[in-house]
Amino acid sequence: MMRLAQRLPFLYKNYSFLNLSLVGLSPWRVRPAKMAAATVGMVNPMPTDHLPEGEAKRNAVREMFDTIAPRYDLVNRVMTFRLDVGLRKKTMKTCAFAPNSLVLDLAAGTGDFCRELHKGDHLAVGVDLSYGMLAAARTSAPLVQGDLLTLPILNESVDGAVCGYALRNLVELPAFFSELHRVVRTGGRIGLLDVSRPDSRFLRSGYDVYFNRVVPKIGALLSDGSAYNYLPRSLSYLPDRSVMMQMLRDAGFVDVVHDQLQGGLSQLLTATRD
Ligand SMILES: C[S@@+](CC[C@H](N)C(=O)[O-])C[C@H]1O[C@@H](n2cnc3c(N)ncnc32)[C@H](O)[C@@H]1O
Repeated sequence: MMRLAQRLPFLYKNYSFLNLSLVGLSPWRVRPAKMAAATVGMVNPMPTDHLPEGEAKRNAVREMFDTIAPRYDLVNRVMTFRLDVGLRKKTMKTCAFAPNSLVLDLAAGTGDFCRELHKGDHLAVGVDLSYGMLAAARTSAPLVQGDLLTLPILNESVDGAVCGYALRNLVELPAFFSELHRVVRTGGRIGLLDVSRPDSRFLRSGYDVYFNRVVPKIGALLSDGSAYNYLPRSLSYLPDRSVMMQMLRDAGFVDVVHDQLQGGLSQLLTATRD
C-alpha cells in the first residue's frame, strides 16, 4: 500500500478526488449496506423499447448499475458459470504486466480485476461511474467514481489498464481509447475484455437463446429482469472487431491484437501504447 501511496500524487488529476478514495478510507467502503438499501425498489431506468445514445445512455447505464449493484456478483457468477473468472486471468496473462506495475481497473464495478491485479502483485486503482457498484466492491484497492471518457488521472501516469465488460456501455469508443492513450505511459499495455456473438451459426443460435431468453429470466429471479434484458441488446453498440482495432491504432496504440475466446462468446483486445 505504501508503494501506491507514493505514486498517488502523480496519479490523480485533481486532489479533490482523493477524499473519495484515499488508500482504504473510501466512504463507500464503510457504507455499502446503506447504499444497497437505497437501491432496493429503484426502477431500472434503461428503456426497453430502444437503446439510448449520448448523455441519456450515460445516465441510464449509471442508474441501471446502481440498481443491480447489490446482487451483481451473484447474478454474474450464475449467468457466466464463473467463466468470467478465467477470462480475467487470461486478460492478465496476455497483457503480461511487468512486476509491481500500477494498473487501472477501468469500469471496475465490484473490483474483480482489482483483486486479480493484487494477486499478480500489481498496484491497482479502480474507476467506475456507478457509486452503487463501487459501494458493493470487495477490494482493498483505492476506488474513484469517474467517467472513462474523462478520466481523473494524470497524463502517462500508469503502466497499464484493463477494462472488463464495459465497452458496450460507453457513449463513444474513440474518446475512451484516446483517454487510455493519454493516461498510459509509452510501452504500457492495455487489455479490454467484453462479450461477443460467436461467428459459428450453430453456437450463435445457442447464444441467442441463452442471452435473449434465459439470462433475463435469471436476472428477473435474482435481481432486475429489465436490466438483464439490456445485456443482449447492448451488444449491438459494439462495432466490428476490425473497426475497434483500427480505432485503437488511430488513438496511438500498436501491436493491436483481437482474440475470440470461448468459441467467440467473449473477445479480448490487447495493445501497447506507442
Ligand atoms: C458489466 S459491469 C463490469 C464490471 C467489472 N469490470 C467486471 O468485470 O465485472 C460494467 C461496469 O461499467 C461501468 N461503466 C459503464 N459506463 C461507464 C463509464 N462511462 N465510465 C465508468 N464506468 C462505466 C458500470 O458502472 C459497471 O460497473
